[in-house]
Amino acid sequence: MDKYLSVSPDEALIARDGTIKLHGAEGFAGMRAAGRLAAEILDALVPHVVPGVSTEELDDIVRAMTIAGGAVPATLGYRGYNHSCCISINHVICHGIPSDKKLKDGDIVNIDVTPMLDGWHGDTSRMFLVGDVPVKAKRLVDATYECLMLGIEQARPGNHIGDIGAAIQKHAEKHRYGVVRDFCGHGLGRLFHDAPEIVHVGRPGSGPEIRPGMFFTIEPMINIGRPDGKILDDGWTAVTRDRSLSAQFEHSIGITEDGCEIFTASPKGFGRPPY
Ligand code: MF3
Ligand code: CO
Ligand code: CO
Repeated sequence: MDKYLSVSPDEALIARDGTIKLHGAEGFAGMRAAGRLAAEILDALVPHVVPGVSTEELDDIVRAMTIAGGAVPATLGYRGYNHSCCISINHVICHGIPSDKKLKDGDIVNIDVTPMLDGWHGDTSRMFLVGDVPVKAKRLVDATYECLMLGIEQARPGNHIGDIGAAIQKHAEKHRYGVVRDFCGHGLGRLFHDAPEIVHVGRPGSGPEIRPGMFFTIEPMINIGRPDGKILDDGWTAVTRDRSLSAQFEHSIGITEDGCEIFTASPKGFGRPPY
């Protein structure tokens, strides 16, 4: 049986053995603020994501905006990771490390930010189109955004975590895309990664029941080709084995009495490109 526990903000800091935390009003307020800052950072990146900019320069902007917002980048120093965001280009599935590599015309790029504000984590990512992007790549980006939103639609009390994955998998496979299995969404709050795991494939009605007060991310990674990935020698960068393009969008959400609140919704209405 899955275990649930109503937690105060102090108790939300404790790592537990798979117990799913149910947060109260203070948690919602904390996540709302952290999520808003995360979304504002992605909004502000739009004019900077252009051909010729290096991913390190974008990382510097993310770090500066995070700190200006009174937060710290949760990725900085996380398990040996030393950057303020992840930037994943084209066939990179996730966890691309900022470097002197420059964006070029036609690239599709995911930028994933996680400011920790007053102890709460806002984890979100979006795709950006660099210059003129081929139609095939734009279709992947659109379908991946639709996967995220269809998953979010299932995130309400009474449903199960498996309903989220099932909705995502159905939509992706309708397009003959591959859904990445190696990485999942996750509970979060005062911890960056917590229970439950949100797998982006599944059977309707399977997995833990969704209850009010749960906080978690949904972050489907969808490939034009096969689902399989591998990690490069840097220990982080995940790429598609068949080198096919991969896209991802991520939101942090909180389950309410009748649905969910998207903590990381864009104040500018920048859901998916074009922005
Ligand atoms: N933001 C990523 C997520 O969605 C985690 C990145 S961890 C890092 O869970 F160390 F790679 F930055
Ligand atoms: Co995440
Ligand atoms: Co993320």
